[in-house]
Amino acid sequence: MSQLVVMGNTSLKGEIKASGSKNSVLPILAATVMIEEPVVIKNVPELRDVQTMISILQQIGKTVSFENETVTVMPGEILVGNVPYELVKKMRASFNIIGPLTMICGWAKVGKPGGCNIGQRPVDFHLKGLEAFGFRITEEHGDVMAVIPNSFEKEIVYALPFPSVGATEQLMTTAALMEGSTITIENAAREPEISDLQNFLNACGAQIAGASTPTIKITGVRNLHGSEYSVIPDRIETGTYLLGTIATKGDVKIHGTRSDHLISLLSILEEMGAGIEKGQDYLHAFWKGPLKPVRISSEPYPGFPTDLQPIITAVLATVEGTSVIEENVFENRFGYVDELNRMGARIKVSSSHANICGVDKLSGAEVVAPDIRAGAALVIAGLAADGETIINNVTHLFRGYERFQEKLRTLGAKITFYPDEE
Ligand code: UD1
Repeated sequence: MSQLVVMGNTSLKGEIKASGSKNSVLPILAATVMIEEPVVIKNVPELRDVQTMISILQQIGKTVSFENETVTVMPGEILVGNVPYELVKKMRASFNIIGPLTMICGWAKVGKPGGCNIGQRPVDFHLKGLEAFGFRITEEHGDVMAVIPNSFEKEIVYALPFPSVGATEQLMTTAALMEGSTITIENAAREPEISDLQNFLNACGAQIAGASTPTIKITGVRNLHGSEYSVIPDRIETGTYLLGTIATKGDVKIHGTRSDHLISLLSILEEMGAGIEKGQDYLHAFWKGPLKPVRISSEPYPGFPTDLQPIITAVLATVEGTSVIEENVFENRFGYVDELNRMGARIKVSSSHANICGVDKLSGAEVVAPDIRAGAALVIAGLAADGETIINNVTHLFRGYERFQEKLRTLGAKITFYPDEE
């Protein structure tokens, strides 16, 4: 099993550059299925999840190259509407391919994603939305089969029961090619990645308006054309390094980032008493004395991001007083708390709340990373702790953080990956 060994009592100090957003590039790559001209996507992070999406595009018949942070997707001669579960199970965002693929092939069969370590994560909103668009959806042997209708209604309105990021992306992308139809998605997710997808699709000729508000309107067009597009910086990666800096009493500047995408985190950090400097395209975090405990609720954007919930918990574990975290997006996102408690944290979870009673110092221990963000939280806890922390099952981290060890080492971390370097 893969392991990271992290030496404690390390302050992160220095400068790094933010990578491109994983959660932006995945739905953008899925959308390229609908574009029958070359598409060039820049600022793409080298991550396992990006490789998985590229493998899916290749499997259905696209020719794809990836070098120097640039992915080029060339049109395939014949696209196959079949994506096996083998590929979907590696990454849930693979399911975002079903709508675009159905638009191009007339049908698509895609493995249905199972649950994961942070919750059940069904895809019912994706499927109900596609049904509202007129698609015929059936399920058999663990696959979802979608078939395009003969024609689309002129006016379609679908209200999401919850502002799901993935379902908003799926439906917005699919609708882009529904010529003759005007589609309204209500209660849409407002994450910056939704605006990035809208901007990408519009750069390819789509007519979409309203991303970053709860109502997105799409006027379907006949074709999308090729374009060159650069994805936004990864706000969750930036947030992770800002929190790592504060947890380790460090001083780090992150270049090429967007503070307007991190408003809720930055206001919490200021409330805690952390030093934050917001530049034109950088963020600078620094320790300026003891931190204060806080109450945080994770919410859909613009609320506090659920993906940073485990990471801020690792910081609050050593903040004097009692902090409270409420998780409102996923039902099972405190699975890592027992691992932090093995390191000496005093955190009690009851249903969707965690009560964190700050201790002076954590102590290095052997722990297991249940998912990407929890893995990052344990690394940060290990950097701040006394002694050595061994984190098992860390391959998750390479799904979500580009050059994770390299960036941490640039900031002074002593960190080793076993069995081999990534
Ligand atoms: C995306 C992000 C993930 C982030 C999450 C919430 C990507 C690749 N991943 O995941 O990092 O943690 O947004 O910000 O962008 N739900 C349903 N039915 C559905 C869809 C969702 O019940 O059909 C529920 C989920 O179980 C969850 C909530 O809605 O409780 C939010 O999920 P969603 O916003 O869809 O997350 P993802 O798009 O999977």
